Amino acid sequence: MALPPIIQGGMGVGVSNWRLARAVALCGQLGVVSGTALDSVLVRRLQDGDLGGHIRRAMERFPLRQAAEDALKRYFRPEGRTADEPYAALPMYRQGASAERERLTMLASFVEVFLAKEGHDRPVGINLLTKIQLPTLASLYGAMLAGVDVVLMGAGIPKEVPAALDALALHQPAAMRLEVEGLSPETPERMRLTPADHFPVPPAPLTRPVFLPIIASNSLASMLSRKASGRVDGFIIEGPTAGGHNAPPRGEPRFNELGEPVYGERDVVDLAKMRELGLPFWLAGGAGRPGRLKEALDAGAAGIQVGTLFAFCDESGLTPELKASVLTHVARGEVAVFTDPVASPTGFPFKVVQWDEDPARRVERARVCDLGYLRTAYQRADGRLDYRCASEPVATYLKKGGEEAETEGRKCLCNGLMASIGLGQVRKDETVEPPLVTSGDDLVLLGELLQGRSSYTAAEAIAWLKSEVGAPAT
Ligand SMILES: Cc1cc2nc3c(=O)[nH]c(=O)nc-3n(C[C@H](O)[C@H](O)[C@H](O)COP(=O)(O)O)c2cc1C
Repeated sequence: MALPPIIQGGMGVGVSNWRLARAVALCGQLGVVSGTALDSVLVRRLQDGDLGGHIRRAMERFPLRQAAEDALKRYFRPEGRTADEPYAALPMYRQGASAERERLTMLASFVEVFLAKEGHDRPVGINLLTKIQLPTLASLYGAMLAGVDVVLMGAGIPKEVPAALDALALHQPAAMRLEVEGLSPETPERMRLTPADHFPVPPAPLTRPVFLPIIASNSLASMLSRKASGRVDGFIIEGPTAGGHNAPPRGEPRFNELGEPVYGERDVVDLAKMRELGLPFWLAGGAGRPGRLKEALDAGAAGIQVGTLFAFCDESGLTPELKASVLTHVARGEVAVFTDPVASPTGFPFKVVQWDEDPARRVERARVCDLGYLRTAYQRADGRLDYRCASEPVATYLKKGGEEAETEGRKCLCNGLMASIGLGQVRKDETVEPPLVTSGDDLVLLGELLQGRSSYTAAEAIAWLKSEVGAPAT
């Protein structure tokens, strides 16, 4: 399948939702939904009354009818919630999740992809973080049941994903290794998904999606192209100015005066070597401005992947209030993007937008871990598996054998990102989780596109990317 030159990058949680991906696809480019935490997104949208009925429309098309009906019965609130009412939460994902939990995860990614693909025949992708392991197989299978065309995965080494895609396309059992701290490599723990547990009679084979790992080094690209468990179809090469998580710099860690990691020559991907691999590649990180598409094509790339520009357009999942507040400050030159080396419990640098009106500035957040997507598995002294996150309450983390130094400066990405799309949890004291906004360094350039306006659409963003001179698209 020939993919378009512009890929709208996957942006979690729910920033690149089905509306954004669909809008981009309708412009002839590749729209990508974020697959991160979609099960929680689904049940919260249902509890908010599913305005417009889109979620229910998609749920009706899910092949496992009972699972869709159960979810509806359990979570749909026709009147929505009152502002001070907490969302009913899902149990956090564990190894060996129940068939019911797997089906809910499948349903959630089915819904998102179904809606992004509805009413047109352009390709649509789904993005997953490799670091989040436990829901991955169910998320992939649900997306494939909705006909997802492309799977993009970064933040880790998605070596085993190609074989899982091959197996799931034929409704065969799929397995991947679960990273467990403290476990001996001789007895690896595997995560499994068995489609026959859900479909006693296998449906027709599914399309095996194109697989594009997101990489930040030649060595990872070359390893994946040779040693992945199956076909890799191309790469997204992401540089350290990109929004969201960044790959850590290579070599001894160094920091600038603000405390941000410093990247050097060794972090630059050699495009000549990439061309030798013979697979198409797209350039990401700072490519979201006029002229960059042409530069990328001239350098032998198949195109660009852009996040920040799309994160702040009308169709993205960020709340309209946050978008308006950030863009007003961008226009005045009053935002900064900080590459925080410790905010993310993954240990990867994570970019955080800083501006005066950031609601998080006014809240002292108490540590709570109740979404748990970024928890890591570890083996307890009694041999059983448990899970911990460096952003959870410190005492709990220490009790689970974590080290205190690991907890310093950590933010709760799960709850913060959920809040930034208007699905923040209400706490017992009736405070709402403060949002966490991430963006690439290029956020500060969006004033050039705005030219005095207060907002823009995905179509305008794409027209701007295609223009070479930097004139605003009108
Ligand atoms: C708000 C936001 C959230 C993001 N979330 C993810 C994510 O969940 N997974 C991922 O692989 N990349 C994520 N990214 C990176 C984008 O997919 C894309 O590669 C990157 O933004 C490109 O660089 P740019 O921001 O300079 O355009 C995110 C970027 C932004 C701006």
